Amino acid sequence: MGGNDNMEQALEDRVNNRSRRVENPNFAQYIGSNWLPRQNDDVVRGPAADYLPERYRKLGEQFLGERLVIPAGPLKVRSNDTDYRFRAHSAFAHLTGLGGEDEPDAVLVCEPLTDRQGTPLPEVNKHETEDATHRGVLYFKPRAPRGSDEFYADSRYGEFWVGPRPSLEEMETLTGLHCADIDTLGDALAKNLGQGHVQLRIVRNVDVTVEKMAQQARKDAGLPYGDDAKTADEKLEEALSTLRLCKDAYEISELQHSVDVTKIGFEEMLQVLPEAAGHHRGERVLEGAFAARARIDGNGLGYDTIVGAGNHACTLHWITNDGPVNEGDMVLIDAGVEADSLYTADITRTFPVNGRFNPVQRKVYQAVLDACEAALAQANTQGCKFRDLHDAAVKVLVDYLDEWGILPVSKEESLSPNGQHHRRWMPHGVSHHLGIDVHDCAQASKEMYLDATLEPGMCFTIEPGLYFHKDDAMIPKEFRGMGVRIEDDVIITESGAAVRLSEDIPRTIDDVEAWMAEVQRRKG
Ligand code: GLY
Ligand code: MN
Ligand code: MN
Repeated sequence: MGGNDNMEQALEDRVNNRSRRVENPNFAQYIGSNWLPRQNDDVVRGPAADYLPERYRKLGEQFLGERLVIPAGPLKVRSNDTDYRFRAHSAFAHLTGLGGEDEPDAVLVCEPLTDRQGTPLPEVNKHETEDATHRGVLYFKPRAPRGSDEFYADSRYGEFWVGPRPSLEEMETLTGLHCADIDTLGDALAKNLGQGHVQLRIVRNVDVTVEKMAQQARKDAGLPYGDDAKTADEKLEEALSTLRLCKDAYEISELQHSVDVTKIGFEEMLQVLPEAAGHHRGERVLEGAFAARARIDGNGLGYDTIVGAGNHACTLHWITNDGPVNEGDMVLIDAGVEADSLYTADITRTFPVNGRFNPVQRKVYQAVLDACEAALAQANTQGCKFRDLHDAAVKVLVDYLDEWGILPVSKEESLSPNGQHHRRWMPHGVSHHLGIDVHDCAQASKEMYLDATLEPGMCFTIEPGLYFHKDDAMIPKEFRGMGVRIEDDVIITESGAAVRLSEDIPRTIDDVEAWMAEVQRRKG
């Protein structure tokens, strides 16, 4: 084909250059026929379904008479006609119980059953409003019949390309929610809007198409839209984040599962540590071993694994992981398996590459470990606020920095708001909430997050560290070029106790050394 022909072809069409469309109009009929009947009995009610009504109750009572729109989000192009693996918005996952790669372009609508005063809407069955303020309706693209073009020719939705797709009935079985075709979403968003005091809020910046639809529906109904509805929409996003602060029994069991599998992943990294130590990109050897376990036993990684050997441990988000793992150094590994349900662990351990901490490494490691213990003890004090965890851990680290003659000012000055000299060696927060997002509940207000008293069901990390850069002239030479972080995942139990979900992952000096030796022994 000559250059001129190419010029006439629209740029956006060229992505189809590889396709060999069959022009025969009977082809869809041919390729869609003569298949054995579907075996639908493998779709069962999902484990989160029983927990959804309580989540809707807690959310719904804050938004009586309001239609709440929570998109999953669209597929994202990686390049040309290949997409990234799909991952739904976390609020959508939380309120549908869907995980894995379910369900691109879907939209959850929490449909109000009452007006804004809590009076049942006329068309609603009274039974339903006895214990619910909203009804969850999941709009998605159900599978197309086998005789359709979509079945064999649509690389995003066709079953030839992406495997079995759910019908409306199957999705209802799986989620326990009402389900409807995504094609009916526009009408559903507009229905009765502005009447019976029905209002609408949407989680913004997730799905442009759905957002446009919702804005148009509000505009047509004479309701505030665009910038005039921004604050109302942001309140919904905040509420969805706050709703996840305290985990229910199902969520806790998923988090425990993620932590347990993460431990296996760490052991598999320890198994290959001798190979990593002899490899010019040893950090990648470790990263790869963990990634394999994350995919085998979970949905994947909860976040990109950090493997920082030697001085790389001082780069907080070191995910390049292309360095060697040298004998005599320590290696810091921050990794978490995300379960199929999308709940993730977030664990850091720091290992001596040769299996034994040297005296300086011991000193730094023990300081960080003491900071962990102080934060956990703080979590177990009556009335502990989330922000106290950080303060308890940092106080210990400041004591050590002072004892070692590193702190350039008094401990009091360093801890004062205008001091903070210790941040040169401990620059990050000690704790964050953990759940479907590794940094969960991030849109909750300061009052509900930092300033809140710990409550049963809260799950968070404790992760102090000390990072001594190789070029830091303020520290003695012997400390330079190493970083230590120890990160555990903690749950507040019904009785108010703070308990590590990661208790079984060794953390003391003796236990880490023994663990490393044991893994090598097992390997034989
Ligand atoms: N892995 C990210 C963090 O520890 O917060
Ligand atoms: Mn981490
Ligand atoms: Mn963390």
